[in-house]
Amino acid sequence: MKKVGFIGWRGMVGSVLMERMKEESDFTLMESYFFSTSQTGALAPKTPNSHDKLLSALDPRELMKMDVLVSCQGGEYTQEIYPQLKKEGWPGIWIDAASTLRMKDESVIVLDPVNRSHIREALTSGGKTFVGGNCTVSLLLIALHGLFRENLVEWVSSMTYQAASGAGAKNMLELLDQMKAVGSTFDQHPALGALELEARMTSLMNGPSFPKENFGHPLALNLLPWIDSELPSGQSKEEWKAQVEANKILRSKTTIPIDGTCVRVGALRCHSQGLTIKLKKSAHLSSVEEIIQSANSWVQFVPNTKADSLAKLTPAAVSGKLHVPIGRVRPMTLGDQYFNAFTIGDQLLWGAAEPLRCVLRMVLEE
Ligand code: HSE
Repeated sequence: MKKVGFIGWRGMVGSVLMERMKEESDFTLMESYFFSTSQTGALAPKTPNSHDKLLSALDPRELMKMDVLVSCQGGEYTQEIYPQLKKEGWPGIWIDAASTLRMKDESVIVLDPVNRSHIREALTSGGKTFVGGNCTVSLLLIALHGLFRENLVEWVSSMTYQAASGAGAKNMLELLDQMKAVGSTFDQHPALGALELEARMTSLMNGPSFPKENFGHPLALNLLPWIDSELPSGQSKEEWKAQVEANKILRSKTTIPIDGTCVRVGALRCHSQGLTIKLKKSAHLSSVEEIIQSANSWVQFVPNTKADSLAKLTPAAVSGKLHVPIGRVRPMTLGDQYFNAFTIGDQLLWGAAEPLRCVLRMVLEE
């Protein structure tokens, strides 16, 4: 059995990964070792064939005993540890949730429903570095897989509505704290009318006592039209990732432009995207629908009706689910090659943990 070490398994993505691996009985296929940056020697979680104590995530000698390392610890950890292991000639497989290594030539960005054959090819030819993609990119590609596979897409504009979880656990909790402050102000003024309450809430969210240490701004009752750092192109880094990562995953011969505005909204763990898709040629709605819905096991086509859209294309309906719904598919008045769509997915499942789980499973079943 291969020895697999887990780092960052207590964080949000790591915890979702652990849960999914238990559900799929993945732990029975490996000897598992849990690493920690702060609690070496403490009791490790119990899984079938697990080592009982936590090992040091900062000790290359311990890490190098593993056949596979799975890191959900974040980019700084990857930046510090990965080069050390490579320098020492560690021959194992590195599976990572962080973005640090995504665009390196040696890395494959993993997205099982879309590029399983590429992952298989890389494993067979001795590839060692496998990295999960950006969440909006992975969810977009699962939803539009069919259109990309048929080489129908000229370009895509994606306007995102990204959940608090994408910014991390502390941010998700901060959104709830902000909502609590809103709720308690509401409770204190039961008799006020709508406009008076609105004025109080606006003053509350802009005031000094509103919890915003992590986001730096109110997210409850608000939205934030910038995610990640600024780039000279005028894009946010989150916006930049869409085109570069998607084209790397698709191994496009010529770059397919993908661009738009990324926006943080007050959802907890589902990222949504409003899409304008320009096709390379005109197509009937029925064939676009058919191509989208038959692409992979996870995309779920939602008929373009008000009832279906409101029931199936929302964070309330999709949180905690593995399927990736896409709906609102209709021709646009912009021209006969333009289609509108709206897609949504759980940012922690196919957006983060599930691609890592799938590549690990492939490694174990090799
Ligand atoms: N960068 C994403 C976000 C999450 O901020 O929502 C991880 O891909």
